[in-house]
This record gives sequence, C-alpha cells and structure tokens, in this order.
Amino acid sequence: MQHQLTLFDDPTVAPPTLKASRSGTFVDNMPLPIHRWFRYSAGFAARWVEEVLTEWDVKPGQLVLDPFVGSGTVPLVCDRMGISSIGVEAHPVVARICKAKLLWERDPDRVGHFAAKVVKCAKGRKPDISSYPQLIHRSFDTETLAVLDNLRSAWSLLRDSSPESELIWLALTSILRPTSRAGTAQWQYILPNKTKKKVIHPLIAFQQQIEIIRSDLRWMQSRATHSHAELIVGDARAFADPMPQSVDAVITSPPYANNYDYADALRFEMTFWGDSTGWGDIHDTVRKYLIVSSSQHSSRERLKASDLLESDAVEPIRNELGEVMEQLARVRETHGGKKHYHTMIGGYCRDISLVLRQLRIACKAGSRMCWVIGDSAPYGVYCPIEKWIAELAIAAGFKQHHFDKLRDRNIKWKNRKHRVPLKEGLLRIEG
Ligand SMILES: C[S@@+](CC[C@H](N)C(=O)[O-])C[C@H]1O[C@@H](n2cnc3c(N)ncnc32)[C@H](O)[C@@H]1O
Repeated sequence: MQHQLTLFDDPTVAPPTLKASRSGTFVDNMPLPIHRWFRYSAGFAARWVEEVLTEWDVKPGQLVLDPFVGSGTVPLVCDRMGISSIGVEAHPVVARICKAKLLWERDPDRVGHFAAKVVKCAKGRKPDISSYPQLIHRSFDTETLAVLDNLRSAWSLLRDSSPESELIWLALTSILRPTSRAGTAQWQYILPNKTKKKVIHPLIAFQQQIEIIRSDLRWMQSRATHSHAELIVGDARAFADPMPQSVDAVITSPPYANNYDYADALRFEMTFWGDSTGWGDIHDTVRKYLIVSSSQHSSRERLKASDLLESDAVEPIRNELGEVMEQLARVRETHGGKKHYHTMIGGYCRDISLVLRQLRIACKAGSRMCWVIGDSAPYGVYCPIEKWIAELAIAAGFKQHHFDKLRDRNIKWKNRKHRVPLKEGLLRIEG
C-alpha cells in the first residue's frame, strides 16, 4: 500500500478546533427554527455544520454539497449563511421533508390561510378509518385517528402544487408521532406495543405546528433573502455528471454499516399517508434506492460475496474486506438468525466507493470534505469503516485524509455477545 499523507502531516494545516462532540445528533436542532419542523433521528447538529463552514471560511459564491442530505441540515445552514448548496437524498419521503423545509421564502399568512382551510374542511367531514393498516390502528386511539383522518382527507381534497400545500403536508406529517400513543425507539423505529401516557390532541398539535412554521418563516426571512439550495431527489452513487468540478466543500454523514434500516425509519408516516402498506413493499418503495447498510437490504437484493469482491470499486481494500467478509460468513453459520452481514459490509464498501468516485467528479481540485462516520462490528467482527473510506477516497483521487475520534460507542450491538469498542468521529478528506 502506498504511503498516504494525512491532513495533519502538513505543518501548515491547523489542527481541528471544532467543538464537535455533538456533531452526530439531531437533538440540538430541536430548538432551532425550521430544523425543528421534523425530528429526524439520523440528522446531525446545525451548529456544528456552521462551525465547519466558518472554520473553512466558506463564503457566498462557493458551493457546498451534502450527498446524504437527509432532512436538510446542511442546505438550511447554508441558506442562512447565504451560501449555495446542493443536497442529494434517495429516500423519497425524507427528500420531501427536506424540500418542504427549504420552502422558507413563503408568505407566513398564506400558510396560515391554507391551514385554516384544511381545518375548516376537516371539521365538516365524516371520518373513515376502516382502511388504515394495522400499524396505524395499533398506534392511535380511535378518536385521535378519526381527527387525523379528517385532516388527511381535507388536505387531500385541497392539495395543489403550491408550496403552502407542501408545508401543510409537512405539518401534518410532523404531528403524527406526538399524537400517537405508540412509543418511538432509538433511531425512530415505531413501537406500537410500548404505549405513551401523554399524547396531544391532533387539532391542538396541528395549530401549534402551524404557528411554529409561521414564526420560523418570519425568523428566516428576516435573516436571509432567498434560498440558494438545490435538492436532487436521487442517488449519491450517480449524480455528479452535470456538475463537474463545481463543489468547494462537502459536509456529510452517510448511513453507517450498522444494520440500521433507513427504509424503516419513516414507515409509520408512510403507512399513514398510504405510501406504504407494510413490510413487503418498503424494499421496493424505498430501500432499493439507498446504499446498502443493513442485512435486510443485502439479503433482499441477494447480493453475492464473490460479485461484491470482484467489483473494481472495492479494489483498494479487497484483501482486508475479503478477510472480514469471510469471517462474517463463518460466524453467521453459528448464529440462528443467519444475518447477511458479510454481504452487507461488501455492499456498503462498494456503494461508498461509488459515492466517492462521484464526489471526485463533482469536487474542485483542492476541495474539502468532512464526513461524520462510525465503524461497526456485526456479530462482533470488527470493520474499520473509516479506514476503508479513507483508502477508497485516496483511490478515487483525493489527496489527504485525517480521522478525529469524537466519542466511543457500542450501543447498537449491546444485545450481542461481544464487547468490541466502537467509535464515531470526523473523517476529513482533501484534495
Ligand atoms: C445519516 S443520514 C443524513 C442526515 C442528515 N445529515 C440530516 O441532518 O438530516 C443519511 C441519509 O442518507 C440517505 N441515503 C441513503 N442512501 C442514499 C443514496 N444512495 N443516495 C442519497 N442518499 C442516500 C438516507 O436516506 C439518509 O437520509
């Protein structure tokens, strides 16, 4: 393996100064205007994004990219700083949420009028809750579901192509959890068996959410003139051809290879809106568009270890990855669940490599990237993810990298019989 320079081998590059310990969590965004319109557990902190942009001295006129933009933390921060941005998101509902949050130039009064029309129309309707799937019936009491159904059908009648219509869709989507008696697990999985004591009446929750949206619109409009954000609802593995060498900086956090199923994250909201009828269709409607990061994904796609290892995308790490995949395949035979972690890891590395190649096309020479990333240990087999990403980045044509650990973690695997220490940190890549 060739020697790779790290960022801090270069004495002219300052060491990191970020207060980055909270970079990986969305909790800090919940008091922040607009960011708070939807709680997306997978998101990172807006203030941290701002710190990175400030540290890098990114200015209006430059272009920032987040290839895994999620609910839009990076473009919203960029909008407030007057910086142009591009986000890529493959989950159709997450992308829709992001798009709605970027509609902050709208007139708050028009949003209020649309909401009032929806409420008025809802009050005159007769609910029909018979056709909702089991998940929804188990998550709401009958009276709450009836009110939500009226709001939903009123919105469906009044919906049009206006931004106000989308903002009201987001408001309704965001009140589903607070009005549901079902609990939410870490990472947003819905838990219909774990009931909450306190729920909010849907009409009150809706009115409150509309007031928050209106007040946040005013807040943002007093600080920024217009949005400079473009959202690509698409695949980070294939987006860059129309924008060669145009990006100055990348701030992102990809899915981790830790078996978290992003397709499941918003299954509750999708089921309410009729975008999903259950487990069966979630692969075809969402998961197959995402990078491989869960064993459900690799098994549904019937990925083959040999094909993955033959892919030229994993060439720079083929030997080490092959050993880890072999070990995972062996350990799998001793476990009842027989999870497809070996192909999950192979698929993950292949996909991340494809994304890095796209980033090389999109980024200018000398650009900077910061990835929030964690390693993983399925079945207790350690996978040095940040090291592999760094090596794949160099192979894709970037020049330097450096990893700073932010915190230890070993929560995802706590039910497994192993104690492999894991970490999360910032992988900075340049060149
Ligand atoms: C860790 S989350 C990013 C959250 C984001 N930083 C925020 O603050 O909301 C990773 C995101 O990558 C998205 N994703 C997964 N595969 C993708 C792909 N192939 N192309 C684009 N986005 C993808 C997931 O849907 C998820 O929203």
